[in-house]
Amino acid sequence: MKRAKLSLPNNYYHLASLAFCVFVISLFVSTSSHEEEQVEVGYGYRVRSVGTSTTDSSGMSSSLTAHLQLIKKSSLLGPDIQNLNLLASSGSFETSDRLRIRITDADHQRWEIPQQVLPRPSHQPPPQNSFLSHPTSDLTFSLHHTTPFVFTVSRRSSADTLFHTSNSGESLLVFKDQYLQISSFLPASRSSLYGLGEHTKKSFKLAHNQTLTLWNADIGSANPDLNLYGSHPFYIDVRSPDSEGRVVAGTTHGVLLLNSNGMDIVYTGDSITYKVIGGVLDFYFFAGPTPKLVMEQYTDLIGRPAPMPYWSFGFHQCRWGYKNVSDVEGVVSGYAEAGIPLEVMWTDIDYMDGYKDFTLDPINFPSDQMKKFVDTLHHNGQKYVLILDPGISVNETYGTYIRGMQADIFIKRDGVPYLGQVWPGPVYYPDFLNSGGGIFWGDEINRFQNLLPFDGLWLDMNELSNFISSSPSPFSTLDDPPYKINNSGAQRPINERTVPATSLHFANISEYNVHNLYGLLESIATNQALVKVTGKRPFILSRSTFVGSGKYTAHWTGDNAATWDDLAYSIPSILNFGLFGIPMVGADICGFSGNTSKELCQRWIQLGAFYPFARDHSAKDTTRQELYLWDSVAATARKVLGLRYRLLPYFYMLMYEAHTKGTPVARPLFFSFAQDVATYEINSQFLIGKGVMVSPTLKPGAISVDAYFPTGNWFDLFNYSNSLSVNNGKYFTLDAPPDHINIHVREGNIIAMQGEAMTTEAARKTPFQLLVVVSSSENSTGEVFLDDGEELEMGKKGGMWTLVRFHGRVVRNMVIVETEVVNGEFALSQKWIIDKVTCIGLKRVQVLKGYKLITSSRLKMHGNSSIWTSFDDGGEFVTVEMSGMSLLMGEEFKLELN
Ligand code: NOJ
Repeated sequence: MKRAKLSLPNNYYHLASLAFCVFVISLFVSTSSHEEEQVEVGYGYRVRSVGTSTTDSSGMSSSLTAHLQLIKKSSLLGPDIQNLNLLASSGSFETSDRLRIRITDADHQRWEIPQQVLPRPSHQPPPQNSFLSHPTSDLTFSLHHTTPFVFTVSRRSSADTLFHTSNSGESLLVFKDQYLQISSFLPASRSSLYGLGEHTKKSFKLAHNQTLTLWNADIGSANPDLNLYGSHPFYIDVRSPDSEGRVVAGTTHGVLLLNSNGMDIVYTGDSITYKVIGGVLDFYFFAGPTPKLVMEQYTDLIGRPAPMPYWSFGFHQCRWGYKNVSDVEGVVSGYAEAGIPLEVMWTDIDYMDGYKDFTLDPINFPSDQMKKFVDTLHHNGQKYVLILDPGISVNETYGTYIRGMQADIFIKRDGVPYLGQVWPGPVYYPDFLNSGGGIFWGDEINRFQNLLPFDGLWLDMNELSNFISSSPSPFSTLDDPPYKINNSGAQRPINERTVPATSLHFANISEYNVHNLYGLLESIATNQALVKVTGKRPFILSRSTFVGSGKYTAHWTGDNAATWDDLAYSIPSILNFGLFGIPMVGADICGFSGNTSKELCQRWIQLGAFYPFARDHSAKDTTRQELYLWDSVAATARKVLGLRYRLLPYFYMLMYEAHTKGTPVARPLFFSFAQDVATYEINSQFLIGKGVMVSPTLKPGAISVDAYFPTGNWFDLFNYSNSLSVNNGKYFTLDAPPDHINIHVREGNIIAMQGEAMTTEAARKTPFQLLVVVSSSENSTGEVFLDDGEELEMGKKGGMWTLVRFHGRVVRNMVIVETEVVNGEFALSQKWIIDKVTCIGLKRVQVLKGYKLITSSRLKMHGNSSIWTSFDDGGEFVTVEMSGMSLLMGEEFKLELN
């Protein structure tokens, strides 16, 4: 990208930020040195006046309005907007951890995402008399009266500048009807950015010098860097220490540009420039200062991730191209015969009659056979999920179409429903901005559920995908805006293979503005429908997503290819969706398009078994890839899914954490080790929760893997041996024979596991085993969340659930494990017990021989070495396993082991 050179003194960030620390939102009149740095005076906006600035009793400002005026016009990219309003607010108008900066046309209302779609605090400052003082915020905003004006966002505690707009050259603020531009400097050597999707990326940390385009499109995810199915204009910036030592490594903030229009985001390393084709500039800054806190603050605004049913953490099998019911039944029995757990069987569009939603193919998937098939699945504790596409076949004999026409809920162009083309041929698309569209959709779901009791819905093609590209309207600039975003990596028209931008939704809202919201709107309508129809916690998998989608749906990474590259790229994709607030995410295991191979599929199930959402899926006309088809893959699947099923309580606890705090299930290493800057670059490993590390093998023919381990003692989670003691994070070359993936657990963790089983229902009936990973330098902690796995809310006040917190510590040569139980009754009613406690990471002098169990402050049991088994692999640590106990999950206890 070309950018005019801006010469700022080296210590610019430092000097500028020092001046900001006085006020939460402070007016800052620039010094002459800034004036001198301007490379050109011409186009741009200046501050005409500063309006209300509300202050609390301590003199802190928490909201400020300013009127901005255009200095000089430019005819490029359409006429300029003369007057702008800027509103900055934090504290009581937002939260103490959040700062909002909104710039919009002062004279005309512009498109903004409606409150009903993404509820958020109103941007109007409340009247002065309702002002409440607020806790101190770490974010400060400063307006600089330069010509043109600039603003900065800084961190008060460290004086670090987080966002600093430019007043020169090609990075000026531009505000036109169909083109908005704003730019910020970034300290390239200290700033690591993650997010800004959806794209397939080779590297999780965003590389410098790239343009990230956001425009939802049905472009296969096997195309790195192109704009894909969803739009998330959100990034986190993980900072490395500054030279003055004021910024602690891993200090993180988040930035959201809440805007649904198409955009290019140009990231060079030392700057980020947003080039947006509509809406307003509505920025939210999240103070962190840890990655986890940024996620908590971000999902507080956009909505916490939806709780997922327990069963959805089991293994899923799908394929496009299953021929008929007996083909699908054969797959289910294939898994059973091979002893590989299968939780959910899916059907793709093949089940439909002529690819019409809410119908069954009368020949290959007739309703009586399908009903029997689904009943059998349910009888065996398994589930069934089916696909829906938004395009409704235009067909006068089709009930869904007729009802849609009667309800008048299709997206229109030129006054009539817009005619697209998808699998069934000609289609109309329901308008989910119209409440009638949601009612229509819910009614169809209800009718179909009565016919076939499916357990979840898969929403595909909702970008919206269209097999034709309609010509632009000659009467509007919407179909062909002056600025061409880099659609499809080649500035392809925004109307390409989607619904044209001049189409109209409810209340004449243009597709141009809401294009990126379709998947979110469809997910909301589907979620509401499923709640109403089933009364249970919905499971929805949506291909298209937007900011806030995680509150309603899970996501998969779309059409990847059965290649080693795509196996590797699935890690950055999954980690990104964790940052986007959609923690339930997975990639098509073994690859979607192209033929997989035995070796690739074996490596993919090893990795995929640890995706939050684990589904094998493939495209029509590719070779079959069910896991039982190769003996070696089947054996590996039993091993890795066996561990996944033992870890189900852990995954489910992480779902609870995601739902209550927004923390991703699959996390980058820096979520637990932010102070270790080496973790910022890691692309091929990730953490499940805080302490289970997945280090997959991603190369053909490889029998070892180079994996990075941050400080601490790490233990192989399959056999608790081969420990790695790391003083200072480093790379290890680990054995990775074809049937093995490296999964390690770190000291300081307590994991409640259950037994292996063929379904999650059966696994939930097995006793718990407590894995205590002892540490001599820190306490060990862990949690387990228990409910029925499908009630609507997770952890609702007064609901039927139990939360158990485990605390472990070493006192001299004794290990003490204590529990803290919230709402124990539910766990007690289910009779869940812990029948085995395994301590790993013990030093040889700590070999434990006896135990005392104390509940409700009385000694309940004691035992001796006869029920102990200890393992000593000759390494530094020993493992002691105590079995045959029956500790009640819902009862608080203290276990002293010595
Ligand atoms: C595209 C989806 O991404 C893919 O998963 C599905 O199999 C096909 N559509 C057919 O429905």
